[in-house]
Amino acid sequence: MSGLTSALLARKPVDRILADSAAEHAGPTLKRSMGLGHLTALSIGASLGTGIFVILGEATPDAGPAVIIAFVLAAVTALFSALSYAEMAGTIPVSGSSYSYAYATIGELFAWVCGWCLLLEYGVSIAAVAVGWGQYINELLDSLLGVALPTAIAAPPGDGGIVNIPAMVIVALACLVLVGGATESARLNTSMVILKVCVLVFFCAIAFTAFDSGNLQPFMPFGVHGVTAAAAMVFFSYIGFDAASTAGNEAKDPRRDLPRAIILSLGIITLLYCLVALAAVGAMPWQEFGGTEASLAKVLTDVTRSTWPSVVLSIGAVIAIASVVLAVMYGQTRILYTMGTDGLVPPVFAKVSARTRVPVRNILIVGVVVALLAGLVPLGELANATSIGSLFAFALVNVGVIVLRYTRPDLPRTFRTPLFPVIPVLGVGFCVYLMLQMEAPTWIAFALWSIVGLAVYFAYGYRNSRLRSPEAPAA
Ligand code: ALA
Repeated sequence: MSGLTSALLARKPVDRILADSAAEHAGPTLKRSMGLGHLTALSIGASLGTGIFVILGEATPDAGPAVIIAFVLAAVTALFSALSYAEMAGTIPVSGSSYSYAYATIGELFAWVCGWCLLLEYGVSIAAVAVGWGQYINELLDSLLGVALPTAIAAPPGDGGIVNIPAMVIVALACLVLVGGATESARLNTSMVILKVCVLVFFCAIAFTAFDSGNLQPFMPFGVHGVTAAAAMVFFSYIGFDAASTAGNEAKDPRRDLPRAIILSLGIITLLYCLVALAAVGAMPWQEFGGTEASLAKVLTDVTRSTWPSVVLSIGAVIAIASVVLAVMYGQTRILYTMGTDGLVPPVFAKVSARTRVPVRNILIVGVVVALLAGLVPLGELANATSIGSLFAFALVNVGVIVLRYTRPDLPRTFRTPLFPVIPVLGVGFCVYLMLQMEAPTWIAFALWSIVGLAVYFAYGYRNSRLRSPEAPAA
């Protein structure tokens, strides 16, 4: 039994993680081509999407105008963890993100569980986001051309349709871009990020012209409880700030740029979200938010009494959400790449094409699985569980920072979390608090997901781990 326990808690030494990531022996490796701008855009690309365009409207009826505070609360929670991510990414600058940090600090079983949670944060959430993208495309077609796709080809079975074609199309497009190369993907993502930021600035510019402080009264109609419930909901809009940490092997100067990109992207999205939330609830009474109508578009239509600004906003949302799919899918493939080099998932995930220097087969497998998920499976509670999965992974990174400071104080760190150990301890506390705000069905989905994950680990990863059985097949 103790042999099993020590195997499960086996830690991968940081030096070995770094050596493995630099090793050329296993064939072609990922290419280092991303600078600070690309990395920051990767994190913004992965985070700025449905959360602000859709969930702001859904959370406002819970919190009233204090939805702004909900965004700040969620940002503070994200910030504690972002500081921990920044420290870990500067110390262990590889592409595995929290999975690799957990492997180095709390052992293989936790690393696996973390990687499995990242499949929720990245893989399942891409499918959910792709479904949201399909809805936006449909609304756009409706408002521009007066035609919408029939439900049969715009929703999965169980949700009244047969297959969700738009959701599958966006996943396939993202897959094609990623196969083309990391530099090309990063460039396209950066352009899309600039566009989506401009669209939100455009929204604020119009909405602030109709700002009425009377709309902010009463500020907190449902008290603190309403605000914390809304904070748990809007936390989704910050998920993705950690995406830069999946580019450790492709960053030109990861030790310097990864911590900066993580903090910078979180700062930019927090500022934007709070401005958009303030502009929205200042321009339209909070009671009018929610329902099926896209709330931000409604604000613009009410303010301008014409439809073109809301069309611009819808185009912005379509681009924004497409870039989330691209950036998050990038992250998912790189995490699986790292897990593949460790033998915890099959080596095909770690195979890099000599021509494009990207893991082509990995991208294709992820693309097919996510497209099928998005097109054919009503995700329901599994999509809600993505926030719990991410919060769990964030909590582990905070724990990792504490462990590594004590076990390896000697490691060079380009960024140190301030006020240690207060910040990482608060980081764990806030993550657990927000997890506890989630509803029972979400917890049940998360528990089932974790049980399946453990079964997969014992069936494959436990037997093939390269840390414990160096003869296991290399990529
Ligand atoms: N944070 C991402 C979004 O809001 C997942 O779409």
